[in-house]
Amino acid sequence: MIASTALEFAHPLMAGTGKLVSEVDTPVRVGIIGLGARGSRLMSELLKINEMEIAALCDLFQDRINRAVTMCKERRNQTPKTYCKDDTTYLEMLDKEQLDAVIIASYWEYHTPMAVEAMKRGIYPGIEVPCSLTVEECWALVETSEKTGVPCMMLENWSFRRDNLAILNMIRKGFFGEIIHSHCAHSHDCIDHWFFDSQTGTDRWPAKYLVNYNRDQYPTHSVGPVLSWMDINCGDVFTEIYSTATASKGINAYFKRKFGENHPNANRKFKQGDIVTSTLKTANGKTLIINYDMQLPRPYSNRWLIQGTLGVYDEERGGIYLAEKSPNYHQWEEWKPYEEKYLHKWWQPDGIEAGGHGGVDYIQLREFIKAVRAKGPVPLNVYDSAVMSAIVDLSGQSIKKNRPVAFPDFTKGKWKTRKPYFGI
Ligand SMILES: NC(=O)c1ccc[n+]([C@@H]2O[C@H](COP(=O)([O-])OP(=O)(O)OC[C@H]3O[C@@H](n4cnc5c(N)ncnc54)[C@H](O)[C@@H]3O)[C@@H](O)[C@H]2O)c1
Repeated sequence: MIASTALEFAHPLMAGTGKLVSEVDTPVRVGIIGLGARGSRLMSELLKINEMEIAALCDLFQDRINRAVTMCKERRNQTPKTYCKDDTTYLEMLDKEQLDAVIIASYWEYHTPMAVEAMKRGIYPGIEVPCSLTVEECWALVETSEKTGVPCMMLENWSFRRDNLAILNMIRKGFFGEIIHSHCAHSHDCIDHWFFDSQTGTDRWPAKYLVNYNRDQYPTHSVGPVLSWMDINCGDVFTEIYSTATASKGINAYFKRKFGENHPNANRKFKQGDIVTSTLKTANGKTLIINYDMQLPRPYSNRWLIQGTLGVYDEERGGIYLAEKSPNYHQWEEWKPYEEKYLHKWWQPDGIEAGGHGGVDYIQLREFIKAVRAKGPVPLNVYDSAVMSAIVDLSGQSIKKNRPVAFPDFTKGKWKTRKPYFGI
């Protein structure tokens, strides 16, 4: 371990711990698999955390690894070992590097196998979204984590947003009464830059999922914060999901508009409908509506709304209404002053300038690394990670069958007695 070199460049106070750097013994050893757009972004945020060493890097492309190594050297004088041969080389890295944690930012199909292999070796996985593509994979994560005792976290960054955590604070203080209903969406046009190459329109790796499946491909950013708002897995549980999809028009229309009729994707058949609407029910009678909306031109939106017996919060409107408290009957109040007043402890300044999605990426990684260092529970556990990701597969099943499907209880009944933990 290279404690001394890592610490030479460290901040005098360790991020978020209040401990002096001199109190740090051995930094947490972190490996990263996948150094594309997201993996590099996460690495850049990780490099702000002092009690941490980037010990090893793995990718399919040498140039991405080289770029990452340069960043580690320049920012922290760290020289990670590198692994770049084929799509199973990550196993060699997990075997050799005595890692404490591994960040997985690879293609979707590798997320669960990589996390399972990490847990079997006692390594904490921090997995990009979604952590699994099938219900079977979700169970594999839950069961491996239970069997090995190694906590497993999906890196659902929107759960850590400043506004979403302030709402959570207010829900827990009872401002909204009993929670009844929520709505959320992932409205993010990703056709012109993520599913396909923006210059040529050729397929990138996720495009195959639009060709072969019709489902909510990306539910975790929308549903992430809602889980703790609704006490899912700790007091309540999803029992069923019913999903419907529109026709698929947006992808062809985009290619015709941008590249012309003769582009191969202009008339190709995509199974994926443009908008998927899922309604989920809970054991205690709550409902949640989720929209997948990633292939029509539009500005970004999550449209979070949470409603209880005493009030409602509407993120898109920037408004809140609380019965008996809001000054004007049935009139919205501005949300921002509430966000300041009920600021969550994770958002108290710690002296580090957080970047990446308004600071959420740094905060979630800081809390994850803190858990690894303490060998304790992760801030977002394997049951919540599985529930969020299971929506991918379950929405597809429901659309295909044109009826509601049962939602598996990954806690096996423990939701009845488990206490809320997220952000506490
Ligand atoms: N949380 C967020 O805000 C957010 C934002 C963007 C992407 N993501 C997620 O991040 C992940 C990566 O997306 P991206 O946009 O960075 O994709 P990308 O194509 O830019 O990067 C993926 C990288 O993983 C590497 N890789 C794939 N399989 C591998 C294997 N078997 N072994 C080693 N390396 C492997 C590839 O070579 C590539 O460099 C996806 O799961 C995506 O959903 C999350």
